[in-house]
Amino acid sequence: STTRHYKFDIKLQNVTRLCQTKSIVTVNGQFPGPRIIAREGDRVVVKVVNHVQYNVSIHWHGIRQVRSAWADGPAYITQCPIKPGQSYVHKFTIIGQRGTLWYHAHISWLRSTLHGPIVILPKKHVPYPFPHPFKQIPIVLGEWWKADTEAVINQATQTGLAPNTSDAHTINGLPGPLHNCSAKDTFKLKVLPGKTYLLRIINAALNDEMFFSIANHTLLVVDADAVYVKPFRTNIVLITPGQTTNVLLKTKSKTPNAKFVIASRPYATGPASFDNTTAIGFLEYKKHSLSNTKSKNKTVKLFRPTLPKFNDTIFAMNFNTKLRSLNSKKFPAKVPKTVDKHFFFTVGLGISQCSKNQACQGPNNTRVAAAINNVSFVMPNTALLQAHFFNKSKGVFTTDFPSNPPVKFNYTGTPPKNIMVKSGTKVAVLPYNTKVELVLQDTSILGAESHPLHLHGFNFFIVGQGNGNFDPKKDPAKFNLVDPVERNTAGVPAGGWVALRFLADNPGVWFMHCHLEVHTSWGLKMAWIVQDGKRRNQKLPPPPSDLPKC
Ligand code: C2O
Ligand code: CU
Repeated sequence: STTRHYKFDIKLQNVTRLCQTKSIVTVNGQFPGPRIIAREGDRVVVKVVNHVQYNVSIHWHGIRQVRSAWADGPAYITQCPIKPGQSYVHKFTIIGQRGTLWYHAHISWLRSTLHGPIVILPKKHVPYPFPHPFKQIPIVLGEWWKADTEAVINQATQTGLAPNTSDAHTINGLPGPLHNCSAKDTFKLKVLPGKTYLLRIINAALNDEMFFSIANHTLLVVDADAVYVKPFRTNIVLITPGQTTNVLLKTKSKTPNAKFVIASRPYATGPASFDNTTAIGFLEYKKHSLSNTKSKNKTVKLFRPTLPKFNDTIFAMNFNTKLRSLNSKKFPAKVPKTVDKHFFFTVGLGISQCSKNQACQGPNNTRVAAAINNVSFVMPNTALLQAHFFNKSKGVFTTDFPSNPPVKFNYTGTPPKNIMVKSGTKVAVLPYNTKVELVLQDTSILGAESHPLHLHGFNFFIVGQGNGNFDPKKDPAKFNLVDPVERNTAGVPAGGWVALRFLADNPGVWFMHCHLEVHTSWGLKMAWIVQDGKRRNQKLPPPPSDLPKC
């Protein structure tokens, strides 16, 4: 293994999209950001230098950060933000992961433009468990706002109303020809016939789950969140913000006289409005031999893919249940077979009373809030990990995060009474090596809505999922403890539940939140403290000396 050094200069860059130029926060002036490439087992060292006027922090989404919680990045959780003019060196080792992950800003809404791929190759001389791809291409799905996204979220926070939706979806930063002034801003995937391409799809959108498809081509799903899965064919990939999916694209054996539309458009179940625009790119076959030049006169056919309806929850459930761990000899699924601690979390929207000094324009002078077990998380003003490590939790956080909702959850179609949420900085504490079972239930309070819940510092196994209310008597009997998919972000089905299991073997403070940024902003987040183990190699080392201070 080697050490890979990167320098991330966080700086403003003028970028033109949708007929307008705006100044955005980028890594090294690039949008989407530069890719990090490493092999499993490598050490990665990234020096982040903040040249902008905003506080910044960067999270390495999905990297397990085994005993390196200080490098994880979420602002006010594991570190204070990197202030203007300051820098911080993130150091971590990639242990037991190979596939695609990504990095993104983890403060306010800066991740709308500050994000990029992390490509993790297998160890040297270790083959993929699938045909070796001819080429590998990151596909970053994103959202573009004409307005400054910091202004968008600041305004929403002040008014208590929903923030504006984006103006376009993008593929590798490009909205494509369905948008004004955007024909030249179209992603083109140029391929040769008869080859296998590995597409590393990342959903970096702020607020939209996405369908992704390429006309007249099937995709073979081989990996999700940097864990190999049992390969399966599909025409359409569903991917939530935070998730990554690797697919193999086998090109046609002969160069067709046609172009194929690549399309990406939201899967949206909630009551709120969303950006329902489609991002389009083209799959084009390179004309590489003389015989093909003849076809110039023939009109090139254009094929379009068909995507599900924007709220097709049945497609979503089917797609998600197809995902299974590869669970081979070399890559066994290490599912916890027993449970030490069971949690039941309701996740969703609710409302909270506004304090006198807030201008709340929501219904009845309330504001929309989002919560887990009716607790809407309040960001502390110092980092939780430091407070925990140095035993200075007083006034920063309390350890009474509820294991169950305040009123027994039983949704029958009309909103239950307990829609009021309370604010607080509460964490749940797990002794080292606790085997955790966590059932996440969509509350459906302001309409059923799916929530992509992301856990830092771990992968979990999705042992079960279903529609309606979770039944603690019947549903656990159906859990898959053999080959459940292992990932870091799970979609809680709209009006349904998902059951996760993980082993808390990584000491630190670990954020868990909805990866729809608007829900996170409203408080759909919490943190776990995983305590040190007894042995030396089960403890979190002290922080690096350059860890940003608040
Ligand atoms: Cu990808 Cu806490 O985030
Ligand atoms: Cu959500």
